[in-house]
Amino acid sequence: MQDRRDFIKLSAAVAAFLGLPVSKTHARETVEERLHTLTNQPYRRGPSVMGLKKAPIDQVRVAFIGLGNRGPGHMRHVAALGDKAKITAICDIREERTTKAMDFLSSKGIKPAVYAGKADAYKEMLQRDDIDLVIIATPWDDHVPMAVETMRHGKHVAIEVPVAVTLEGHWELVNTAEETQLNCMMMENVCYGDEELWIMNMVHSGVFGTLTYGEAAYIHDLKGSMFSKTGYYDMFRIRHHVRQDGNLYPTHGLGPVAQYMDIGRGDRFDHMVSMSSLEAGLSEHSKTVEQDNEFYNRSDFMHGDMNSSLIKTAQGRTILVQHDVVTPRPYSRINALAGTKAYHEGYPSRLSLASKHGGHQWLNEEEYADMRRRYTHPIWEDLKEEIAANGGHGGMDFVQIYRLIDCLNRGLPLDMDVYDGADWSVVTPLSKISTELGSVPVKFPDFTRDSWKEKRSYGIMANL
Ligand SMILES: NC(=O)c1ccc[n+]([C@@H]2O[C@H](COP(=O)([O-])OP(=O)(O)OC[C@H]3O[C@@H](n4cnc5c(N)ncnc54)[C@H](O)[C@@H]3O)[C@@H](O)[C@H]2O)c1
Repeated sequence: MQDRRDFIKLSAAVAAFLGLPVSKTHARETVEERLHTLTNQPYRRGPSVMGLKKAPIDQVRVAFIGLGNRGPGHMRHVAALGDKAKITAICDIREERTTKAMDFLSSKGIKPAVYAGKADAYKEMLQRDDIDLVIIATPWDDHVPMAVETMRHGKHVAIEVPVAVTLEGHWELVNTAEETQLNCMMMENVCYGDEELWIMNMVHSGVFGTLTYGEAAYIHDLKGSMFSKTGYYDMFRIRHHVRQDGNLYPTHGLGPVAQYMDIGRGDRFDHMVSMSSLEAGLSEHSKTVEQDNEFYNRSDFMHGDMNSSLIKTAQGRTILVQHDVVTPRPYSRINALAGTKAYHEGYPSRLSLASKHGGHQWLNEEEYADMRRRYTHPIWEDLKEEIAANGGHGGMDFVQIYRLIDCLNRGLPLDMDVYDGADWSVVTPLSKISTELGSVPVKFPDFTRDSWKEKRSYGIMANL
């Protein structure tokens, strides 16, 4: 006799995603089979873009789509790079945003072409032949269509986080990058942080021994911005909380931890399980906002306040990834890393070494400062003045743009490829599936199609 646990109740959204009829229950076997088919490797359209090398571009011609909270920072950093890059075009659906951007650019003597006023103005911009790279900082649902269109017009693309929110969208980016043989990078700025590169350097120098587990998070109280009518374009962020549960923003915490663990370079994410707490933060807060706010007094938020996911890697490591953007608590990405010889935890940054105090105490101030001195990544020393002048989340934003443009100038593979972006970002749709199906394990797609086994280093870690 079959057990009740052999059957799963699906929401309409998940049933539609799995291509199954919306009926009361489905056999667990059927659901797992559909999941396997969906996460499996679709037909490949071109060779791998791992380690992709293109001819050097002396001066990278850059265009921007999306100049809201995030885009203008990237624009200012590109403008600060002198002859290494040139801004040739900018685009935003809202003319007031391109006008504001032009106020800054004109003051620097930069005169790009401007595209604004309609949702597909960017398509006209992409017709231009004076663009090498397009930087996209628009709402999440737009990333895939905009990036695919960009690559189809023969241009490299760098996309803000997360690169995509659906499983199909992630495959579409990988397949298009392979078909067009162009760079498609997710702009995970945290991978360029002083603390994160310091940890990477220690990992590469053997300080941590064998890595066993990590913890990553995006914990940031965004209630104010999410309910604000002007916080995000069309209040796009809070709409996702109505539409879906799961981890909506995994990559800031997870990207660096994935790099410490060589994901896509000898290890890979194998499967994950995900679970959300009840939802209470947004619905309670919704009672306090102005009555003409579309989200006033709502109780239909699907997204639980705290989503926790556990990832298991092929080499047996585990990673906890959390997402909480509603609880009144200080910002944290946790940034924890455990190895057989050391342990680090962020917020605030603390290090413990087996060789000091037997690993039972955090390093004292002097010992910690000594480790920072010994293992700080040299790029933070080399770019000290530029970082101080340009900043951006403490400097990581500037370092990211510098590396992106510098690699294109020198014809080097980018530090992060389309497979990295897809691996880290696909946690969103996978966590959604796992959460909705009662925390079932969900396999990660292998975007690299078995090439993850190849040991290769990150450009930024080479020749230290
Ligand atoms: N890496 C980071 O630290 C960081 C920080 C903030 C935001 N982000 C990411 O950056 C992206 C943008 O976020 P944001 O906070 O700037 O949002 P935002 O709403 O402030 O900006 C989005 C911009 O896109 C424009 N836009 C919308 N549709 C468009 C279209 N069809 N054509 C052209 N422009 C269009 C909007 O007018 C707006 O100016 C998101 O992916 C977000 O997750 C990353």
